[in-house]
Formats: sequence, structure tokens, C-alpha cells
Amino acid sequence: MLALESSCDETACAVVEGLEVRSSVVASQIAVHAEFGGIVPELASRHHLSAVIPVIERALDEAGLRGFDALDALAVTDGPGLVGALLVGVQVARGLAAATGLPLFGVHHMEGHIFSAFLGDAERPATPFVPHLALLVSGGHSELVDVGGLGDYRILGATRDDAVGEAYDKVSKLLGLGYPGGPVIDRLAAEGDPEAIAFPRAMLQRRDNLEFSFSGLKTAVLVHIEENGQPRSRAELADLCASFQAAVVEVLVTKARRARTKVGRDRIHVVGGVSANRALRAAMAAAGEAEGFAVVSPPLRYCGDNAAMIAAAAAARLAADASPEVDVRASVALDDPTMRLVPR
Ligand code: KG4
Ligand code: ZN
Repeated sequence: MLALESSCDETACAVVEGLEVRSSVVASQIAVHAEFGGIVPELASRHHLSAVIPVIERALDEAGLRGFDALDALAVTDGPGLVGALLVGVQVARGLAAATGLPLFGVHHMEGHIFSAFLGDAERPATPFVPHLALLVSGGHSELVDVGGLGDYRILGATRDDAVGEAYDKVSKLLGLGYPGGPVIDRLAAEGDPEAIAFPRAMLQRRDNLEFSFSGLKTAVLVHIEENGQPRSRAELADLCASFQAAVVEVLVTKARRARTKVGRDRIHVVGGVSANRALRAAMAAAGEAEGFAVVSPPLRYCGDNAAMIAAAAAARLAADASPEVDVRASVALDDPTMRLVPR
């Protein structure tokens, strides 16, 4: 399976065999968008256009393939994402499908992130796809999803406003730390005191509530800066980052634990770009240890956007004899009826 991913600011192509990654190439546009403090959709589309063919050629090459003959099928992220960015991957994939006669599977970006936890490569073995409670945390999503099987996704709770990654990126901008904010705040937080500033933990009181809200936390950081000025030293900056991060992590871990108990799964998978976060990984692992559930996160190379996860999701659909369909949708939920497995 060869897949393309171009939903946001990464142009990616990968070749997989089932859950085994044969090659995974990611061309990041971070440098393009960094000077604007966030993603500029029109620039993203243009850079996907110039990157996509070389990225495909490299993915074939690194998988040891000369051309498309050894492939069974093609796949592409067809939503959700920036519509102009999605269209580049989808139109190129349609062209390849027409030229090769291979079937083309459209893949939901978040289904891809769900599959990222099972991928295997030269450094680690693949693991079989099993039901689990997924905490999906990325730049565009913060969701708790009960994953019953392929295409069987029940959203238990989502964010009412900002996604977690978005909160990191906005707070980073407030502090003049640039885009993307996650990695830099993660690093600074490791040096700081998480109890230095008491930031709010939104919507934790009601035990049956599995929704998130992060825009109030972002505002609390803004108010703190307005009242106290920008941090005057690296230590103060680190304390602020650590305190912000502690609020995020406490909410995520608490809600994920509640959701797992509610649906009775024995494992929590943390996936999406924010799953790279060290404090989140450590806190979730500690909760798993204390309460006796398994915690799984992808290796760092598959946390952020990549095409291997898209290819693996499509490979599972191909193996289940699902009918291939592509339908570009900038906004489509994981539990949309069209996500259900419809065998051919
Ligand atoms: O999944 P992803 O690569 O793209 C989307 O589908 O959105 O997620 C990107 C997000 C960005 O908001 C970025 O700041 C965040 O993931 N991120 C992190 C870390 N690394 C990336 N957030 C917290 N800690 C990190 N280490
Ligand atoms: Zn993503």
C-alpha cells in the first residue's frame, strides 16, 4: 500500500505491508509557516504541490520499489484538514490511480493516527489491531474515542473550543516562542516548577463529563502575562510553561482514565502530534501502572503527521475487503456513518 498525506503542513508518502512500514518520508513545511506564527493555508497548498512528486519518488526508492508494479493499492488522506492542502494529495493520488489502474482508498486523518500506535518497522515490531480507548490529541483535535474495531469509532468526548495542540501553539505565540509550540514548551517545562502558577483545570468537576475546553487556559496564561509582564528569566519562563503543561496533562489524564473505566477497555492509546509530549506520556504511564491498564503511544517518528499511518489504515480496509472510496471533506467526524466498514 502506498499512501499520501497532505492534510496540513506535512507532505508525506509511505509504503507499508499491512502494519509493517517499508518507507515513510515526511517533508515538513514548519520553516515556511514559522515566520507567520501559524499555518497559512494557501502557502501550505503551494508547498504540497512542489514537494509531492519528489516525496513519492523517495518513498518508492526507500521501499526498494522501481515504479508501482508491486503495489496492491493506493491511499490518500481525504479529510479532515485544510481543503486546499487535501486537494493536492487527493488529485495526485487520483492521477496515480488512473495511470496504474490500482484501487484508491480515501482515509480519515484521525483513523490514521489511531493506526499509528500499531505500526512496526526495523526498530520495533508491529502489534495487532485491538479494541482500546484512544486519546486523540493533535493540532486540530482533542477527542476520547472508544475504538471497537476497524471503522467502529464512538466519540465519548471532544473539545468545545481549542484543540490541545492549538493551545500549545497559541500559548507559545503569547510567549514569543514561535511555531509549533508543543516541542518548545515541552522542553522548557521540563526545567520548571509545575506548581509555580495555579492555572485552571477546566471541566474536571462533573465526573461524567468527558468534554475538554482549553481556550480558558490560554486566556489564563494571557491574563497572567498582562498582570505580571513577560517572564524575566529562563527560570520564570520554564515555570510558566511547566504550570501550563501541568494543567493540560492533568485534564487529559483524568478524563482519559474516566473514559476508560466507563467503556471498560484494558488499554489507553495516546496518539496525534501532542502524544510526543513527555509529561503526558509519563503521567499516563504512571496512571496505567497504578490502575492496571496498558498505555501505548507511537514512537516519536509516528506521533506527528505521516503517511505510514494512513497507508496502514487503508491496508486494514483492503484486507477487510472494504470498497475503496475517496470523498474530500474538510470537516468529517470519526463516527460519521461513512466511516463504518462496508465490505465490497
Ligand atoms: O498530529 P499533528 O502533527 O498535526 C495535526 O493533525 O494537527 O499535531 C501537531 C500538533 C501541534 O499543535 C504541535 O504543537 C503539537 O502537535 N505537538 C506537541 C508536541 N509535539 C508536537 N504538543 C505538546 N508537546 C509536544 N512535544
Ligand atoms: Zn495529525
